[in-house]
Amino acid sequence: MKYNFDKSVARYNTESMKWDHMGKIFPVFANKDLLPLWVADMDFQCAPPIKEAIQKRVDHNVWGYTICGDDYYEVVTQWMSRRHDWHIDKNSIVYSRGIVPALSFFVQTFTNPGDSVIIQRPVYYPFTAVVENNGRHVANNTLVYKDSKYTIDFVDLEKKAQDATTKLMFLCSPHNPVGRVWLPEELEKIGDICINNDVVLVSDEVHGDLVFNGHKHFPITKVSKKFEKNTIICTAASKTFNLAGMHTSNIVIPNKKLRDNYTRTAFDKCFQLDANPIGIEATKAAYLYCEDWLNELLVYVENNMKYVAQFCKENIPGVSLVPPEGTYLAWLDFSALNITKEQLTNLIVDQCQIALDEGYFFGDEGIGFERMNVACPRSTIEECLQRIAGAVKR
Ligand SMILES: Cc1ncc(COP(=O)(O)O)c(C=O)c1O
Repeated sequence: MKYNFDKSVARYNTESMKWDHMGKIFPVFANKDLLPLWVADMDFQCAPPIKEAIQKRVDHNVWGYTICGDDYYEVVTQWMSRRHDWHIDKNSIVYSRGIVPALSFFVQTFTNPGDSVIIQRPVYYPFTAVVENNGRHVANNTLVYKDSKYTIDFVDLEKKAQDATTKLMFLCSPHNPVGRVWLPEELEKIGDICINNDVVLVSDEVHGDLVFNGHKHFPITKVSKKFEKNTIICTAASKTFNLAGMHTSNIVIPNKKLRDNYTRTAFDKCFQLDANPIGIEATKAAYLYCEDWLNELLVYVENNMKYVAQFCKENIPGVSLVPPEGTYLAWLDFSALNITKEQLTNLIVDQCQIALDEGYFFGDEGIGFERMNVACPRSTIEECLQRIAGAVKR
């Protein structure tokens, strides 16, 4: 291996949300000294070309308003076509300071107060928040959990899409937190249901580069071009290359009418047009020069997942890893312990002194689960699992 992912990097006192400020995001973590394996950023240093590109920009030392240029969009399209064999028009890409703000703009653009948005819980918690906090309803197409695998209830999905108040669907592809990398046939069914019922489909593909051996991520409009009519795809280098703090993401909106509607909200009403100058350079360097780093990262993360699965099997009776197909987020099933939601939180937070994403953050369907971020050195995972094993035994 060229890169050393075993190396521990101290992150305290960097104003890190994960390490320094966890209690500000979730009160359950407040005023405690917890080992953090929660929010989805990595404890690894970025690939060297990213630092070099940022350094070069820093040397210029002028930080005025900045807009993404043609070369930026060109680099994004090249990455998508090289990595995913997905060919997009660079004019269809709209810069955003984050995917979550864009999700909120989608709600404001494509729905009216009182309308419904389909999501599939357990799912990344801002999906629920941006819908409800904008005064819309969640139409929850609960994922089906059977034999350690999550699948989609298509009958229920179709019913929800047919409801006259349903205008929008948020798909998480690959799925955070359950780790499914959706198959083309599953994506085709979702796309068909949305297109047939005039539902705008937002496919959040921020984890699309993080897929394990034997699985393949399919951007939704690669599955079928017909979905270009009603589909928006959210992408970024943020998860892939550990650049979440750069606030630089790319929203692909092939249909011009949808794109114009979206930019009226994001740019004309909210003035979210200009970009982070460092984020632009970091993203370009990542997509141009860091693919070898990503390939090694994926091996390391997949081995961490295997380690978690094996450790649980051998040392933590009643706890198992839902087999992951992608993402660096391990979804751990504690339901066989038969303890309450409060007891599980007490076990993890108070007894083990660990910050994981509590399963219930992702909706009631997540009760009895914990999400562990394994994008960290193996030694951190060993420490975390030892603490859980000890607490469960006690
Ligand atoms: C599915 C999904 N979408 C979006 C984000 C965050 O996007 P951003 O930081 O660009 O707002 C995350 C972060 O974990 C995520 O898991």
